Amino acid sequence: MSDSSRPPQVRVKPLGLSFEAPDSLTILEAAGFANLRLPRSCRNGTCRTCLCKMNEGRVRYTIEWPGLSREEKAEGYILPCVAIAETDV
Ligand code: FES
Repeated sequence: MSDSSRPPQVRVKPLGLSFEAPDSLTILEAAGFANLRLPRSCRNGTCRTCLCKMNEGRVRYTIEWPGLSREEKAEGYILPCVAIAETDV
């Protein structure tokens, strides 16, 4: 759940860790500020190294065509290097 007085929280389930993801940062950048090193390579939404599944929440992208198929998006996959959390994720 998100409210307007705080940045969205991102929870990384396999690690059991959470961090704040303000809308000025991508989720990958916010993880870095929280000293959490997530898989990454290109950082521009093309290589898919950072691909992960979002179980809940909503993101928007900093680029028009992130490297995800429509089906992957529908299944909840996101690319954190170009995704900004709009809600808790
Ligand atoms: S790091 Fe390459 S798509 Fe995210």
